[in-house]
Amino acid sequence: MSINRVALVTGAAQGMGEAIALRLAEDPSGIDVAILDIPGKETQLANVAKAIEAKGRKAIWIAADVSSEDSVKGAVEKTVAEFGGLDIMVANAGVTLFKPMIETTVEDWNKIHSINALGVMLCFKHAAIQMIKQGRGGRIIGACSGSGKQGVNNMSAYSASKFATQLVLFSALELKSHKITVNSYAPGFILTPMLAHPDDDKYGGLGSVAKMAANMPPEMEGAKPDVIAELVAYLIKPQAWFMTGQTLIIDGGLFFD
Ligand SMILES: NC(=O)c1ccc[n+]([C@@H]2O[C@H](COP(=O)([O-])OP(=O)(O)OC[C@H]3O[C@@H](n4cnc5c(N)ncnc54)[C@H](O)[C@@H]3O)[C@@H](O)[C@H]2O)c1
Repeated sequence: MSINRVALVTGAAQGMGEAIALRLAEDPSGIDVAILDIPGKETQLANVAKAIEAKGRKAIWIAADVSSEDSVKGAVEKTVAEFGGLDIMVANAGVTLFKPMIETTVEDWNKIHSINALGVMLCFKHAAIQMIKQGRGGRIIGACSGSGKQGVNNMSAYSASKFATQLVLFSALELKSHKITVNSYAPGFILTPMLAHPDDDKYGGLGSVAKMAANMPPEMEGAKPDVIAELVAYLIKPQAWFMTGQTLIIDGGLFFD
């Protein structure tokens, strides 16, 4: 008999987080999904929760900031109180910044690191505490980026915060004996609201201004968020127990590890 699992996905009001939450809800293994995003995105969260329920799974939404330890701990506790446990954590929430290093302020640096690096660590930490307590293993997944593996123009603060998500290496070692795997996805150019700019239409559509800001080749291909959702769907499969501590590039061939 298969037992339903429970997932918590952060940054799930839109973009990759939304696609991942919906893909988990479709998974034949049976996964109930808690979704989290910042206060102010309640309407989007409620709509994603409805879409999860329409797929026949249970959903709750939580408006919280991943850079606050109390909020992350509270989100894990709420998920466990509603669904009885936590088996899958997807620490997806993130923010970007296109700015040359010499113009980057301390405020820019601290803000981006508090969400992309500290936020991911807090999600890993509180998920792991809960999973260890449950004693039934678990899957922890974080959002890295191609720019967390190599330098990208005009993205130094963002890129540095994504290098920090190499935390998967250390977490995977520490959590291996608890049968908890820890991996992250390192996407290339994924067409989500993160890449939207008011001038996109002038330069070739969604992401075109971001592409220029990062000095990426104009012919670089973008993909829809479903390519990442499907990778996450692999990472939560029973057979993926053998993969841990990996940061998986998925970028259409832009960069080889
Ligand atoms: N889009 C890309 O090309 C790309 C490439 C590489 C990596 N990534 C990473 O993938 C992840 C998802 O990106 P996306 O493209 O779907 O972005 P997105 O902007 O469309 O969605 C990110 C979500 O995270 C939420 N968020 C931001 N700060 C938060 C906070 N403090 N607490 C809780 N939620 C918060 C936002 O409100 C938003 O809904 C991010 O970590 C991003 O850095 C994106």
